[in-house]
Amino acid sequence: MASTVQTKTDLAHQCCIQPSCGATYDIGQVRTSCDACGSLLDILYDWESLPVPKSLAEFEAKWSRRHEPLSFSGVWRFRDLLPFAPPEKIVTIGEGQTLLHASDGVARFVGVSAGKLHLQYEGMNPSGSFKDNGMSAAFSHAHMIGARRAACASTGNTSASLALYCGVSKLMQAIIFIGSGKISYGKLSQALDYGALTIQIAGDFDDAMHRVQQVSQKEGIYLVNSVNPFRLEGQKTIMFRVLEALRWQVPDWIVVPGGNLGNSSAFGKAFHELHELGLVDRLPRLAVINAAGADTLYQLYEKRGLRWNGGRSDAALVNNYYAELDDAHRRASTIASAIEINRPVNLSKCLRALEWMNGVVREVTDEQMLDAKAQVGAHGLGCEPASAASVAGAKMLREEGVIEPGERVVCILTGHQLKDPTATVAYH
Ligand code: F0G
Repeated sequence: MASTVQTKTDLAHQCCIQPSCGATYDIGQVRTSCDACGSLLDILYDWESLPVPKSLAEFEAKWSRRHEPLSFSGVWRFRDLLPFAPPEKIVTIGEGQTLLHASDGVARFVGVSAGKLHLQYEGMNPSGSFKDNGMSAAFSHAHMIGARRAACASTGNTSASLALYCGVSKLMQAIIFIGSGKISYGKLSQALDYGALTIQIAGDFDDAMHRVQQVSQKEGIYLVNSVNPFRLEGQKTIMFRVLEALRWQVPDWIVVPGGNLGNSSAFGKAFHELHELGLVDRLPRLAVINAAGADTLYQLYEKRGLRWNGGRSDAALVNNYYAELDDAHRRASTIASAIEINRPVNLSKCLRALEWMNGVVREVTDEQMLDAKAQVGAHGLGCEPASAASVAGAKMLREEGVIEPGERVVCILTGHQLKDPTATVAYH
């Protein structure tokens, strides 16, 4: 896409994730892939010339200045670790005031020792899901470059978040693409309430994603799906808040549901950068949990041995797998509509995160997810079905002996319980 603005700083740039390519682009450009080789892009920083905190504890001091919106935000309190936006362009609505909750009840269910199981409750965000972390970042970039319209394809949470930022700021018109019958009413009602232009397309999320990429490219509409590298900069801060809540001690495991694979990709980058900056001495292990009915990552990583391999991953494995899906007319299908995705756009970045964090991938059935969800609810937090994949996956990995009983485990609860009450009522 062509839009370019002169940026004040050359201390941040966009860079192709493919080590053998490494093409770079100004952060004033709007793009979701590399012109030279088609790979995804990272936002990289010239840390040598930037004021990087000497210890993570320095971020705690920001909390005493919480009367300032940028220090109140759970994303922008960490802006020294995502320094791409001039402060006057940052759009914040108080995202990221989320809780890391130690749950001994859920620890018993998972099979780890008391005090070792933590739930990172991203449902407390303004639109009720983790998406606000990334949306604040992408939206700020959109504002930086003067966008007037922003679009996404969504299983519901990205669209609720985009619609909220547009509704509050009045800076842009939200245009959202959803698959037919593929969105819970809780999420759809948010987009309608906040005033987004909502377009239902024939097909599922994978079709909607394909369509919105075409349309936004053609019409010059700013795309906020997680192929947008700025989105993932905001989602890094989920990990910063986990560390903050653990008094900067690195946990043993981060367990996260996998859909379009933006979160897992962002978490890998967060820890990789912290390690490079000398702010942590080790990386936790990463477990990405697919729904069994939408298990592309599981199939490719665990069954067919696909690896990032330092950027030399086997593209034929992926292409063959997608051709098989097409031949068999196989579509993603799970009660966890948020992660009902078969063609995850961040696959390559997620593979890289799995390499950095010595990761594993598992798939859980709808029944395992709903049982885990009921346990989260019974112990007082509540989450939507997709979020509970993390808890169900942790239990599975514990039963396999991959997770040890004494290890510290953080499960990410990505969305609020009230996003999909139909699933909850049907279960009970
Ligand atoms: N959990 C919830 C509640 C989600 O809404 C999503 C993604 C995920 C997990 C998966 O996260 O894509 O980073 O692997 N929802 C997107 C949407 C696709 O449109 O709202 P991911």
